[in-house]
Amino acid sequence: MLKLFSLASLLTVVWLARIPGGSAGTYSLTNNVVGSDFYNFFNWQAQPDPTHGRVEYVDQATGRSLNLTYASGDTFVLRTESRSILNPAGPGRPSVRIRSKKTFTTHVAVFDLRHMPQGCGTWPAIWETEDDNWPNDGEIDILEGVNDQGPNAATLHTLPGCTMPAERVQTGINGQLDCDWTVNGNTGCGVRMTDPTSYGPPFNQNGGGWYVVERTTQFIKVWFWSRNNPSVPVDIKNRGVQVNTDSYGTPAAHFPNTQCDLERFFKRHFIIINLTLCGDWAGSVYGNSGCPGTCVEFVDNNPQAFREAYFDFAGIRVYE
Ligand SMILES: *[C@@H]1O[C@H](CO)[C@@H](O)[C@H](O)[C@H]1NC(C)=O
Ligand SMILES: *[C@@H]1O[C@H](CO)[C@@H](O)[C@H](O)[C@H]1NC(C)=O
Repeated sequence: MLKLFSLASLLTVVWLARIPGGSAGTYSLTNNVVGSDFYNFFNWQAQPDPTHGRVEYVDQATGRSLNLTYASGDTFVLRTESRSILNPAGPGRPSVRIRSKKTFTTHVAVFDLRHMPQGCGTWPAIWETEDDNWPNDGEIDILEGVNDQGPNAATLHTLPGCTMPAERVQTGINGQLDCDWTVNGNTGCGVRMTDPTSYGPPFNQNGGGWYVVERTTQFIKVWFWSRNNPSVPVDIKNRGVQVNTDSYGTPAAHFPNTQCDLERFFKRHFIIINLTLCGDWAGSVYGNSGCPGTCVEFVDNNPQAFREAYFDFAGIRVYE
C-alpha cells in the first residue's frame, strides 16, 4: 500500500508538471522537419516579391530543376541562382520563398542552420507572420539582415498600440521601442544581438548555430547559440522530443506583454523563409554597406557573387 501510494503521488507530481502553466517552459515536439521533409512542410510561394527585390520567386518544380533547393539526409539547401547573367529588362535572379502549411501560436521553434545566405545584395529572413493579413496579425522576425551587416536583429511589427519597455532581461540592445508598423517606415521594435557570430560571414565561419524562438501569451523570446557555443542547451543540441526553455538562460531578445497585449497583436502565424536580393531594405542601404556599384547591376552581372547565398538547414523542429 505504502509503495503504491508513493507511486501514485509521484505520478501526480509528474502529471502536474506537464499541465500547461504547471511548468511554463516545457513543450513537446510536433514537427520535425529534416532534409526532404521541407518539401511537405512548406508551400513554395512563386509570387512577386512584396519588398521589390531583384528576384523571381520560383515554384517548387522550377526550384528543384535549377537546384535552388536540394535535400539529402539531414541537409536542406535553399539558395538563389548563381550561374546566369541577367537581362536588365527581364525578371530578377531566381530565388525561393517558402511558407509553412501549418500555423502556430504558442510554440517553440528551433532553426538548426549550418550556413546562411551571404554576399552583397542579399536579404535573407526567417520569420513568422500571417502574410495574407499583414500587418493585422503581427510579425516576428527571428533572423534577418542585409548585405552581410551583422549582428542579427530580432524584431516585432504590429498594429498601433504595442510598445516594449526600455528595461528588459536580455543580452541584446534595444532599437526602437514602438512595434507599430506605421512608425518610421515599419522599423518595428528590434533588438540587436551582441554576438558577432549571429549573422553573415562570421555565422558561416563558425558552422552556423541554433536560432530558437519561444512564443507564449506572456512573452516572445529569441535565443542564438553559435555551433561551438558550450552553453547550447542539451535538449536543443540533442534534438530532444521535449524542450524546457526554463533552462535556456537570458535570451538575446525579450519582448514581454507588459505594454503590449500579445494575444491581441499576434495571431496564428506561418513560418516563412525568404531570400531576396536588393529591394526596399538591402537596396536602399547597399552603398553604405561597402558593396560595389549599384545593387541591381551587381545582381544582374555577377552570378558568381551569389555562390554563398544559401541556407543550409540541419533541421527545423517545432514544439507545442
Ligand atoms: C545541388 O546542390 C547541392 C548542394 O549545394 C550540391 O551538393 C549538388 O552537387 C548540386 N547538384 C547539382 C546537379 O548541381
Ligand atoms: C519576405 O517577405 C516579407 C513580405 O511578405 C517581407 O516583410 C520580408 O522583409 C521579406 N524578406 C525577404 C528577405 O524577402
